[in-house]
Amino acid sequence: KKRIAVLTSGGDSQGMCAVVRAVVRAGIYLNCEVFGCYEGYSGLVQGGKLLKKLEWGDVRGWLSLGGTLIGTARCMEFREREGRLSAAKNMILRGIDALVVCGGDGSLTGADLFRSEWPDLVKELVTNGTFTDKQVEPYRNLTIVGLVGSIDNDMAMTDHTIGAFSSLERICEMVDFIDSTAASHSRAFVVEVMGRNCGWLALMAGICCGADYIFIPERPAKAESWKQSLKEICLRHRAKGRRKTTVIVAEGAIDDNLQKITSENVEECLVEMGLDTRITQLGHVQRGGTAVAFDRFLATVQGVEAVKAVLENTPSTPSPMIGILNNRVVRRPLMEAVKLTKSVATAISEKRFDDAMGLRDSTFKE
Ligand code: F6P
Repeated sequence: KKRIAVLTSGGDSQGMCAVVRAVVRAGIYLNCEVFGCYEGYSGLVQGGKLLKKLEWGDVRGWLSLGGTLIGTARCMEFREREGRLSAAKNMILRGIDALVVCGGDGSLTGADLFRSEWPDLVKELVTNGTFTDKQVEPYRNLTIVGLVGSIDNDMAMTDHTIGAFSSLERICEMVDFIDSTAASHSRAFVVEVMGRNCGWLALMAGICCGADYIFIPERPAKAESWKQSLKEICLRHRAKGRRKTTVIVAEGAIDDNLQKITSENVEECLVEMGLDTRITQLGHVQRGGTAVAFDRFLATVQGVEAVKAVLENTPSTPSPMIGILNNRVVRRPLMEAVKLTKSVATAISEKRFDDAMGLRDSTFKE
């Protein structure tokens, strides 16, 4: 029987539990054994109780849950070769040679590196006497399949990452809550949302909540004139009878000189306009709570596809990332997706803002 390990790594996101459930159940259905690797890559590095076989019933009720019940971590040991050697040992001890990783681009890059190093790691485990040649014979290659779990929706070659819509929902709920008190007091609120250097959450929340103004990294505000523009637009809305002002600031918001735009910068400007202003930093509230229907769906269909991809993978196929493009579940080369994702950040840092916008947009088309 093929033995597959599943792990969640990096920042958690809603839908990760549903991914584990789908991989466990699709694995069992397709005649595999599935191991839950607890605490991200630490579970591989430490082995023992952190690498545990999961049965059908173990993941009962996991479909809607928030967070990840097998834990997650940003594991330092796995960044070192020594840690990866230990991970390879623990996997071979359990007869596991396939890994489904659900995380962001950093976690998925680590997985692909592990795969390329695997034959050397196995050789070393023979040389140092941990295993005999015969024992490692069935485990000459490692299969890696990536699933993108992140609230940020920042990965190329997939329209949506698992957790992004739940996080968006949470932001919208919070902004709706803020709206009532804002209107009561005729106040302005600056709402800062997480999303690293991706503006998707801020942009979508701004549209869905009818914000007055949105700051995102991909379309930086003009350093010379954003304050004036913010004032004019907010005052115009007030003049039409709006009793509140809502400005959404993405965590990675910058101006076109690449200077960070902070919530405090925006607050200062709103206060200059005479508006009684408060800042709300949503922070990890956005990563909490249950998964919305779309994330449950995405996690389930992609988790099933991940198991199929494990079973169809060959040593010469590049590690696949499971994505969704135009409503179709797809497999794309993992490292190409990571490279394209990184090129957005590069374009921004080189002030090629139209390219950055185009590159983000190209992740929605193909
Ligand atoms: O990548 C997910 C994310 O929530 C980002 O939006 C945010 O910048 C970061 O992780 C926060 O990380 P931590 O949970 O380590 O504070």
